[in-house]
Order: sequence, then structure tokens, then C-alpha cells
Amino acid sequence: MADTGVNKQQSRSEAVGRAKVAVAGGGRARVYLETYGCQMNIADSQLVNAVLRRAGYGSVDKPEEADVILINTCAIREHAEERVIGRLSDLARLKHSRPEVKLGLLGCMAQHNRASLIAKAPWLDLVAGPDTYRRLPELIGRSGYDPAVDVRLSREETYAGLSPDYEAGVRAYVTIMRGCDKFCAFCVVPYVRGRERSVPAENIVREVEALAARGFKEIVLLGQTVNAYRAGDVDFAALLRNVAAVEGIERIRFTSPHPSDMSTPAIEVMASEPKIQPYLHLPVQSGSDRLLAAMERGYTVRGYLDLVGRLRSAIPGLALSTDIIVGFHGETKNDFQATLDLMRTVRYDSAFSFKYSVREHTRAYRLGDSVSEEEKGRRLSELIAMQEKISLERNRELIGQTFPVLVEGPARRGEGRMMGKTPQFKTVTFPGHDNIATGTTINARIDAATGHSLSGVTV
Ligand code: 5AD
Ligand code: SF4
Repeated sequence: MADTGVNKQQSRSEAVGRAKVAVAGGGRARVYLETYGCQMNIADSQLVNAVLRRAGYGSVDKPEEADVILINTCAIREHAEERVIGRLSDLARLKHSRPEVKLGLLGCMAQHNRASLIAKAPWLDLVAGPDTYRRLPELIGRSGYDPAVDVRLSREETYAGLSPDYEAGVRAYVTIMRGCDKFCAFCVVPYVRGRERSVPAENIVREVEALAARGFKEIVLLGQTVNAYRAGDVDFAALLRNVAAVEGIERIRFTSPHPSDMSTPAIEVMASEPKIQPYLHLPVQSGSDRLLAAMERGYTVRGYLDLVGRLRSAIPGLALSTDIIVGFHGETKNDFQATLDLMRTVRYDSAFSFKYSVREHTRAYRLGDSVSEEEKGRRLSELIAMQEKISLERNRELIGQTFPVLVEGPARRGEGRMMGKTPQFKTVTFPGHDNIATGTTINARIDAATGHSLSGVTV
């Protein structure tokens, strides 16, 4: 799942008619929550907001106004952890001037570095892993002179039945499974998020129905290996059908699938169910069989390309994106060239690429790094430059074509322009009119393209 950088999760500010958690001096205790990492973490923060709101906490947008400061963290690469450490030292200064403020670390990094964190940051009041969020109110209450630590991973916790505080908009991300059993050699996720487990299908369908009733038009099903979903007799293909049957929901997407779990029935549902949108983020990681084996990815280049071929022939107009790691242990110049070759063959619409980062606990940890930082940097730049060219070419091919665009609101730049997404998840901006409402679908004819977005006119 691609890293989305920092996201301030702002809970809805509506009053809640539950017990209020009082603070010294009266009033309701206020929580500030900041989120790092992938879409899954953003969804988890929405769960945390819901848990705390129900327990009587209010929420604020600035750490200076908070009684409790929480950071939901990412451990996927060292860089993600460094950013959080930097941020923590800012917040520690704040705590120094207001010692009564409670400061807590949540999520993957809490799980990953539990022991060293407390040693390095003794002023932390709270360290809580991703399976402990139901217990957060108790943990916050318990923290005092000693930090409250809870990093128990669970084989069962799916947070089923706990509705997150979704951010308002046209699209909602619904977590359908948690954890990962794949144990790719480079990846810390199975160690910090635990074993794979799926939310019962009835809970998912009920949640999607409630979202439809609230006016959401698009649902993105979320999971670390989302297409490994299985709850009882319901597999991923069956779940897609059940979700597609919910009235009012117009578009369905999912992220991130694993190539090895992309079953024929799932491809058939994607091809036959019009609500399922023609876009897939299909991480490949490398284009070298030697590296794919070392990474323990469970497929070969040929197998992956065969899957891409089957997907493209079943789903016309399918857009594809991917994740690539450069400089994994043992990656030679030839291996890297093989990755560039694969990217030229597939011609992805976009790609997220990362320098390999050695992670403690993983299978590849003991191997260390064999490619220098400089060489990783060179490979990354070359790969990005090539992909930018392909993305631009691909988007330019769309000029003159018309797409249904689900309108999301005003465009960030450009007076009077609005923006939305095509079925292929490409951003389109277009001149807005008073009568174009958010959540409606308009037809836009594309008249210009960059590598990252399209612009069009309504037709
Ligand atoms: N180093 C670099 N990139 C990584 N990813 C996962 N683990 C690592 C690591 N140790 C990348 C993969 C994955 C994406 C979410 O992050 O490409 O698909
Ligand atoms: Fe990590 Fe591999 Fe699981 Fe993805 S499938 S979360 S890369 S271990």
C-alpha cells in the first residue's frame, strides 16, 4: 500500500451525547491525532477517533489545544520512522511546557520498536499496537508515572462492528481484512500487524449499506493483501458481488491485491460487475526472477505478466499501477535492468518506487544491504524518469476520449475548476458550474494531460 505521507485525521466536530472524559479544570478531554503511512493507517485512525469519541473524548486540530496527543505511525521503511522520531521531539517540547499532556504512539512503529522506544523516549505516556485500539480509553486512563504499553497482537481482532469516523466525501475506505501471512523477505508488516484475518461479510455489507444511506458513492475495500479475504464460506470474489449488490453505491475499488491471490473468479467478477472499477494497484516489487525468489514473493516474471495479460483481456481499459523496490540485497545492474524491462513491457499508468530499507525482524534483515545508498538513489531516479515518460504517454493517449467522472469537489488549483476521478482512478479537472454537485457523475472529454492528471470539459 502506498505511503500517503502525513494526514491529520480530524473527527467530525459534532457533539456526542456520551459520558464526557473530564480533565483537571473541567471540560471534556481533547485528543489530537496525527497519522503517518498508508491508507490502512488512515482507516485505523478513523477507528481510533470513533473509539475515543464513544468514550467521551472531544477532538482538536492542533496539538497545542490537546490534553492527549497521539501519533499513528508507520514502520515500513526507516525513513518513515525517522520522520516520526523528528516529530516526537517537537511534541516532547510541547509536553515539557505542559507536563499534564499525555503523549502516545500508536500503530506499526509502536509495535516494531516497543522496547527501544521507551528507552529512547521515556516521556512517552502510551505505546499501543494496531490490535489494541478498543482498549485505548483504558490505556490513556492508566498512563501516569509509568508509560502504559500494550502491543499484544491478536489472531481475532478485526474491529468488526466498530464503525470508524469516516471523513466526509464521496469515497469511503472500508477495512475488510487485517494482517498478512505472506512474509515477503523485506517486509515488516506481518510482524507489526500480525496474522491475516477477515471481517465477517455481514459486517462489511451492513457497513457499506450504512455508508450508502449517508450518501457515499464509492467504496474502497482495504486490506494488506485484500484479495486473500476469506471469512467462512465467503471468498474475495463472493464478497465483491455482495458489496456490488448494495444500492446507492456506484463505484467499488480495492487495494492492495497480491498477484498470487488474484483468482480467476475475482477477475471474472471484476469483468462482469459494472460497479467494480477498471483500476488495479498490483505490486510487482522487481522484474528479476532471481530477486523475486529472494524476496519470497511467490510468483515469477512470467506468471505476473501472464496475470496482467489475463486481466487486460478480461477488463477493457484497465489501468494498472505498481510498487517497486530498488536495491534489495543482491540486486545487480542486470536485475535492475530486468525491472526496467518489465516496466516497459507492462507500461503501468503509475508506479510507487522505493529504495530498499533493511528492517529488523524480517527474513532479509540478517543479509543487510549490498547496494550502496548512492547506487539505490541512481536506480530510483532512472526508474522514476522512465515511468514519468510512460505515465505521460499513457495519459496523452486519452486526449479526445470521454470518461464518466465522479465529482469530488473544487479543484485545488484553478479558479472555478472542479475535480473528480475517472473509472481508472485518474484525476480530471474541469470548469465547474453551479449545477455540478459533488457526488454526481458527469462526462468529461479530455483535452490536456500531464503525467499525473488530466483536464477536460463537460460534454
Ligand atoms: N524497503 C523498501 N520498500 C518496502 N516496501 C515494503 N517493505 C519495504 C522495505 N523494507 C514497499 C513495497 C510495498 C510498499 C507498501 O512498500 O513496495 O509494496
Ligand atoms: Fe508485506 Fe508482502 Fe504482506 Fe505485502 S504481501 S504486506 S509486501 S509481507
